[in-house]
Amino acid sequence: MGKVIGPGSLIVDVTGFAPHLPVAGESVKGSTLRFGPGGKGSNQMTAAHRAGSDVRLIGCRGNDFLGQILEKHYKTEGMSEEYIAILPEAETASALIEIDETDAQNRIIVIFAANELVKRENVYAAENLFVECDAVLTQFETTVDTVFATKELAQKYGKPFILNPAPFIEVPTEIFDGIDYITPNETETEQFTGIAVDTLDDCKRAAAKFFEMGVKNVIITLGVRGSYYTNGKEEIFVPAIKVKAVETTGAGDAFNGGFATAIAEGMPVEKALQFATCTAAISVTRLGSSPSMPYRHEILDLMKKEFGTEV
Ligand code: RIB
Repeated sequence: MGKVIGPGSLIVDVTGFAPHLPVAGESVKGSTLRFGPGGKGSNQMTAAHRAGSDVRLIGCRGNDFLGQILEKHYKTEGMSEEYIAILPEAETASALIEIDETDAQNRIIVIFAANELVKRENVYAAENLFVECDAVLTQFETTVDTVFATKELAQKYGKPFILNPAPFIEVPTEIFDGIDYITPNETETEQFTGIAVDTLDDCKRAAAKFFEMGVKNVIITLGVRGSYYTNGKEEIFVPAIKVKAVETTGAGDAFNGGFATAIAEGMPVEKALQFATCTAAISVTRLGSSPSMPYRHEILDLMKKEFGTEV
């Protein structure tokens, strides 16, 4: 079992479903409202946990009604809250998510709240985790300073550092220097590199921009098309698996949690991408973000069926 650690966001997703998404000024009769555990950091660690990793999430939440939803999630999953600061004065973060029932697409407003209280001090207070882990994973849903501190410690202890640069925020380009694996989706790739990725050749050109910024390995996730990998010498394309999606919220998080698990176990990149692809494919067939993450045996079964590979 590999150990995956890192700081990340904890959010409660408030999700409404409707036959179509409203335009500005329109009210649409919806069908269902759900409160559930979410946040990119928490989703990714939940995915890694269910995929077979020992995980530790460094984060922050309030001790309020929304915080209790997260607390229940970690207890049910058997995930440690040891490195999650629970501050009575903090407000637990929330995301307002609208889902179109016809195509499972979503629109999201995120209120960062307690996630903005995660700082470099919190990362350094968990330095011992970096010593013993096998992979480090984070995103852009806490603070920029947190990401710099995470990179510093991952490098200090020589641990593979995976950065999922989501959501897009303005960052100094030095943040990318020395990153082992970056995992933007198509939109984030265009936002960070200025290159729209319609073809694999576009992916290659966008990856070259990330290499100029000091990234070592680039993985661009291309939604229903698949994922593209390059380290500047080798290129790999892994097609997505065709499934009937009911909710795509958290699909990228499933991919990242699965990928981090695979890297923590020392899988070669192509197999790690297949593992991540299967994790994401199963997640979109289920409702919720964290609750939709698949278990290891399901991922392994799908890998064998779709790619003919075994772990
Ligand atoms: O990536 C999906 C997540 O983004 C949701 O769970 C929501 O909380 C937002 O942060």
